[in-house]
Amino acid sequence: MTSIDPLTFPPGFLWGAATASYQIEGAAAEAGRTPSIWDTFSHTPGNTLGGDTGDVACDHYHRYREDVALMADLGLQSYRFSIAWPRVQPGGSGSMNQQGLDFYRRLVDELLERDILPWVTLYHWDLPQELEDAGGWPARDTAARFAEYAALVHGALGDRVRHWSTFNEPWCSAFLGYASGVHAPGRKHAPDALAAMHHLLLGHGQAVQAIRAADAGAQLGITLNLYAISPADPAEPGDLDAARRIDGLANRVFLDPVLLGRYPEDVKQDLAGVSDFGFVRDGDLETVAAPLDFLGINYYSRHVVAAPDPDVTAEPYWRAPTSWPGSEDVRFQKRPGVPVTDMDWEVDAPGLTETLVRVAKDYPAVPLYITENGAAYRDAVEPDGSVDDQDRVAYFDAHYRACHDAIAAGAPLHGYFAWSLLDNFEWAWGYTKRFGMVRVDYETQERTVKASGHRYREVIKHNGLAG
Ligand code: NOJ
Repeated sequence: MTSIDPLTFPPGFLWGAATASYQIEGAAAEAGRTPSIWDTFSHTPGNTLGGDTGDVACDHYHRYREDVALMADLGLQSYRFSIAWPRVQPGGSGSMNQQGLDFYRRLVDELLERDILPWVTLYHWDLPQELEDAGGWPARDTAARFAEYAALVHGALGDRVRHWSTFNEPWCSAFLGYASGVHAPGRKHAPDALAAMHHLLLGHGQAVQAIRAADAGAQLGITLNLYAISPADPAEPGDLDAARRIDGLANRVFLDPVLLGRYPEDVKQDLAGVSDFGFVRDGDLETVAAPLDFLGINYYSRHVVAAPDPDVTAEPYWRAPTSWPGSEDVRFQKRPGVPVTDMDWEVDAPGLTETLVRVAKDYPAVPLYITENGAAYRDAVEPDGSVDDQDRVAYFDAHYRACHDAIAAGAPLHGYFAWSLLDNFEWAWGYTKRFGMVRVDYETQERTVKASGHRYREVIKHNGLAG
């Protein structure tokens, strides 16, 4: 245990908030931007709740100045946002679109002007549609296209941006995009999902190598969605095995190649009926494991899992079974009495500590950042227009404490980004789920800082929970 003041974070701990291009920008057809897979997917009836699309979203493309002013008002020290690939390289290959790049230049300049550190994600799910038409992530060439795009964006913004994440949650791109089909591009073919996984990882490694070669001082990483995982009954060997499987398919199948340069053998065995991993070529894993400056972790909840039971009908669960080839019969369980958010995800702050400590213990040392953590709740707008989101305040407080506990236990955690700055387009859920510390009225585009945002300002100001 490291001895630190229980309420204060170490000096220099970085406090920020995160968003993603398709979820907030809008301006879908402006200034040369071409469609991404999310434009196509959301415009196809039946794919998103209410047929919602990101056409307008939070109109951040036009309101970025106002939004950066809000960030400054909250005292954010860093802002994590993503670049829309089809805005800066329409069609996903060839030359860059100056107008698209100019938007991000203006945004970054505005941030720097206010002393807010820009933290760029190169890919938060908006693949140019042309690249999907050419095969998408199951096609190996997409990795090369991504590395080329990454190097070009770095060439254009690298004088102002030092922190780069290649991918956000490649698990979602691969498994929700190509296995269960609940995310764009909506394909349902398990072997393709595994090929997509590998090519996302390969694109990550190739991009890291390309940017590193151009700029030895760039800070490079990737963001993975990791979960705490428990067996429903730790005394049941079947439940323990279910936990091993899901940990493999959710966490280790990404952590191991990126940080250890290999796919886990047990996961390959679990997936033997789906794929022989023939997409892995000589030298790929060395590329995937290119050294990193940080690992970003998105943490929301815990999975509690049990062995198949022929007498029990498994509760339908959005991630299973089709998102997880190789674990079709694992039962995901809800623990009675554990509160859930509006996403129906269990609130489990100790799982955040557990996840950070586990990564620090099982993998070679790398600085860790929580690049997303947060909760959807239905906000009540008070008659005076204020938003007193005490459930979200409590969620965040518990997770700030969990981060502190992880640091006290020795995890090298250097920063925390709340998800999200703004209410936004929650993918297949459209605008029905609100994650923001700032409420967005989608009719008027008016922004209102919620109680959770006011609380965050205090946390940042005190670098912790004092006061
Ligand atoms: C993870 C994703 O990166 C983000 O886009 C999403 O909105 C949040 N989780 C909440 O589901």
